[in-house]
Amino acid sequence: MSVSTIVPWVIGNWKMNPATADVQKWAQQFNQCLQLAPIAQQQCNIAVAPTYLSLISLKENFTGYNRTVHVVAQDVSRFPGTGAYTGDISAQLLQDAHVSYVLVGHSERRELLGDDTQILCAKIKHALDAGLTVVYCVGESLAQRENGEAEAVVLQQVKDIVPVVSADQWEDRIIIAYEPIWAIGTGKTASADDAQAMHAKIREGLKQITAASDRVAILYGGSVKPENAADFAACPDINGALVGGASLSATSFYKIAASFAGKK
Ligand code: 13P
Repeated sequence: MSVSTIVPWVIGNWKMNPATADVQKWAQQFNQCLQLAPIAQQQCNIAVAPTYLSLISLKENFTGYNRTVHVVAQDVSRFPGTGAYTGDISAQLLQDAHVSYVLVGHSERRELLGDDTQILCAKIKHALDAGLTVVYCVGESLAQRENGEAEAVVLQQVKDIVPVVSADQWEDRIIIAYEPIWAIGTGKTASADDAQAMHAKIREGLKQITAASDRVAILYGGSVKPENAADFAACPDINGALVGGASLSATSFYKIAASFAGKK
C-alpha cells in the first residue's frame, strides 16, 4: 500500500466559535453544498470539531446528509471513566454519546491551557482505551523554526506518545496533524513544499515506530483556505487538512474538502 491510497481527511476545528444559531445555519449550508455536488465517502473523510455545546446537535444534523460527516471533540479529560472532575468530559462519556474522534495536543491547548506531554499521554491513553480515534496535533513555533529546530521538535512530539499507542493503533486510531504554530490563524501558510518536506520527515520518523507508517494519515493545518487547498492536496504525504478559520464558513470548508476529494 502506498501513501497515495490513504483516503484524505478534512477536519474543521471551530475552536471557541460560533453560537448555537450559527451552527444550524452552517449545517444547512454544508448540506446544500453536498446535495449540489456530492463528495463520495471513498474520496474524502469529512469531520467537524464544534464546541461541546453543539457536538450532539451537530451530530444529529449530520444524520440527514447524503454521506457520513463525523463530529470530533476538541478535547477530552485526562481522567478516565466517571467521577468528581468538575467541568471535564471523559473519553468514556464521549464514547457513550457515540462521539468517536477527539483532538489532542493542539498548540493552543499546549501553550495556553497547560497540556504538557504527561497530560497529553494520559488523554490519548484514555481515548484509545475507550475506542476513540485521536487526531494528534504537532508543530513547531516560529522561534524553533528560525533556530533550525523544527524537525527535531516535531519528531519528538510524535515520539512523545509512543508509550501510550500500541503498534496496531497507529494505522487507524491515530491521525497526525502537522500545524506549524506560526501558520495558525495568521494567514501565513507553510509553502506546500515545506509542508510536504515536514510530512515526509514525520512519515520517516513513523517508520521507526510502526510498520504501518505508510498508512498513517498526516494532515496539514495552518491557514488552509479554498485558494491554497489544492496545492496541499497535490503533495504525496499530505493526507488532508485540519482547518480553523476557513471551516467557519460552510462553503469555504466544502471547497477545501472538494479539493482534497479531487486528489484521489
Ligand atoms: P487556521 O486554519 O485558522 O489557521 O487554524 C488552524 C488550526 O489551528 C486548526 O486546528
